[in-house]
Amino acid sequence: MKKKSFVSIADLSKETIIRLMKKTEFFEENPNQKLLDGKICATLFFEPSTRTRLSFETAVNRLGGKVIGFSDVATTSSSKGETLKDTIKMVSNYADLIIMRHYLDGAACYASEVTDVPIINAGDGANQHPSQTVLDIYSIYKTQGRLENLTITMVGDLKYGRTVHSLIEGMSHFNPRFYFIAPEELKLPDIYKQWLEEHKIPFEECIEFSEEIINQSDILYMTRVQRERFTDLIEYEKVKNVYILKNSMLEKSKPNLRILHPLPRVNEIDNDVDDNPKAYYFDQARNGVYARQAIICDVLGIN
Ligand code: CP
Repeated sequence: MKKKSFVSIADLSKETIIRLMKKTEFFEENPNQKLLDGKICATLFFEPSTRTRLSFETAVNRLGGKVIGFSDVATTSSSKGETLKDTIKMVSNYADLIIMRHYLDGAACYASEVTDVPIINAGDGANQHPSQTVLDIYSIYKTQGRLENLTITMVGDLKYGRTVHSLIEGMSHFNPRFYFIAPEELKLPDIYKQWLEEHKIPFEECIEFSEEIINQSDILYMTRVQRERFTDLIEYEKVKNVYILKNSMLEKSKPNLRILHPLPRVNEIDNDVDDNPKAYYFDQARNGVYARQAIICDVLGIN
C-alpha cells in the first residue's frame, strides 16, 4: 500500500476535511484511546514551536504511542552538516511516523519523497501549516455551527503567514468570502489571489483595519508579524505594530463573531480582548490536540 503523508492542505478534498472534523470531534469527546500502541512517532523541529510540538506530542501520548525527537536543532547532527535527506533517512529507521517543522518552504514535501515513513508537515517556512488548518477549521465549525457561507477577515502578515495560506485553501470548499487586511509590505502573495480568482472565491484587500469590516465578519483571524521571516529588520520595525485589535473595536461586531489567532501573539491583540467571550484563541489551541490525534490516525490508516 502506498504510504500516506500530510504535507499540504491542497491535497485534502472537501470529504476528507469533513471526515477529519468528525474524527476531531470524536477525540474531543474521547481523548484517551490506545490506538498507537507499539508505534513510535518522531517530532523533528528545525524551528521553534510551543503549541504545535507539544500538542502533537500530547496527541501521541493520549493515543498510547511513544515520542522521540528534538526541539533544538543545535543538539543534532544537522549542526555538523548532516543534510535533511540523511536526517530523514536515519529517523526513518527508528520511527513509524515523522512530524516535521522546517524553516524552508517545501521541506516537508521533499522529506516525503526521500522516505517510506509517512511525514506530517508541522509548518514549512512561509508555505503551509496544514495541521493548524485542521484545528482552525474545527474551531470555525465549533463556534459557528457550520462551515458554509462565512465571512472571514484575515489581518496582519498575509505574505509570510503559512497558517493564512493553508486556511484560505482549506476553507475554499465552503463558499467563503474573505477580507484581507495587510500593509503594502505584507499583502497576500499574488499566487494565492490568482488561485482565489480561478476558484471564483470573492475577496477584498484593505490596508485600513476598520470596524466596518470587523462588523461584517463571522471570523476575525489575527496574525503576528513574523520577525524571523524578515531579512531586513528595519522593514520589520516599520510594520511590527501596524494593527492592534482592542476590545472597543468589537462593540458593534456580530454576536457570532469569534477571534482566532494561531498564536503566539506579540502585540496584535490587546490583553483587554482576552476576557471578551468572542476571543477564542486559547480554546482554538486546545482543539489542536484533538485535530492532531485525528490527523495522526488518518495518516496511519487507523480508524
Ligand atoms: N500556531 C503555531 O504554530 O504555534 P507554535 O509556533 O507555537 O507551534
